[in-house]
Amino acid sequence: MIRLSRVAFNKIMKEKLNKLVADALKNLKEIKTIEEFREIEIKFLGRKGELAELFKMMGQITPEERKEMGQLLNEAKNKLETEFKQMFEKFEKEELEKSLSKEFFDITYPAIKPEKGSIHILMQLQKEVEDIFSEMGFAIMDGPEIESEYYNFEGLNIPKDHPARDMQDTFFIKDKNDEKHSRLVLRTHTSPVQVRTMEKYGAPLKVIMPGRVFRNESTDASHEHTFNQVEGLLIDKDISIAHLKGVMTEFLSRLFKKEVIVRFRPGYFPFVEPGLELDFSCLLCEGKGCRVCKNSGWIEFMGAGMVHENVLKAGGIDQAEYQGWAFGFGMERLAMMRYGITDIRLFTSGDLRFIKQF
Ligand code: PHE
Repeated sequence: MIRLSRVAFNKIMKEKLNKLVADALKNLKEIKTIEEFREIEIKFLGRKGELAELFKMMGQITPEERKEMGQLLNEAKNKLETEFKQMFEKFEKEELEKSLSKEFFDITYPAIKPEKGSIHILMQLQKEVEDIFSEMGFAIMDGPEIESEYYNFEGLNIPKDHPARDMQDTFFIKDKNDEKHSRLVLRTHTSPVQVRTMEKYGAPLKVIMPGRVFRNESTDASHEHTFNQVEGLLIDKDISIAHLKGVMTEFLSRLFKKEVIVRFRPGYFPFVEPGLELDFSCLLCEGKGCRVCKNSGWIEFMGAGMVHENVLKAGGIDQAEYQGWAFGFGMERLAMMRYGITDIRLFTSGDLRFIKQF
């Protein structure tokens, strides 16, 4: 092997470096495709490329020379890397433009805003109602929407041939025979959950039972075949209607965030005795009389009463020891009153202009 003098070695390194830079730049100008680009990038700047070779030769020169040579090498490396980067970006842009022209894809076009859903006004209100009753110590129960005729009627003291059946005509699902649970109906009210809850948990009880109910009737601005109710049931020792008055006054005042007055009128429901209707003071006119309360100063709100002994019996509760009250109100009524909605059919219309207001 010919031993080169130091000066010669140094000179050769510099020449090699100059040639490398010139070659690399020349190549860079000539290439046409990204594949060719990748090739020369590896050839000159790769881990085992020509520039790396020169860096390796640094081990064979003196520390003083190394300083100068190191600087030259680094300058060359930076220069080449910048040039290569620019070329790469040019290729990238061309690629993008090519694929864009193929796909008709405009990246400057504003993105499509995802449609955000929201909770239906009735469910928002139901949550509020549940929260208030929960705070007052009530549990929340569910029952089936397709109910046996027994729970919907007989268990609630509405015998088959009783005229009270006509109050709530429903949709019958099945009519096989006359056995207790064989006929199914779409429940006409949430009251059947009263009996189910009594059977399942016994006394004492403090529950509300919200849910969807159905009636076979023609619809108009204040009647729908499908609507929502909240049932309430309190069973314990020494329960009176005074407790009902207290609970409902408290509930309505919390819901409307102002003092609400309630009053009772007699009302008929076969599953309570005595039966009541509860009204509350109109919040819009504060009792003076307006369009919403039909000038009476009162809003008709719900049915209620002391649970009938036949219902307690059906629920397996000992009437000698326990008694209680029940109530049932309509969610749509409440929402209509609260937000000044004049047509009940809007709730299920699917009209987004209506839904999006809440
Ligand atoms: N279930 C009755 C209705 O739908 C309301 C009600 C519930 C009345 C509980 C009294 C007691 O009209």
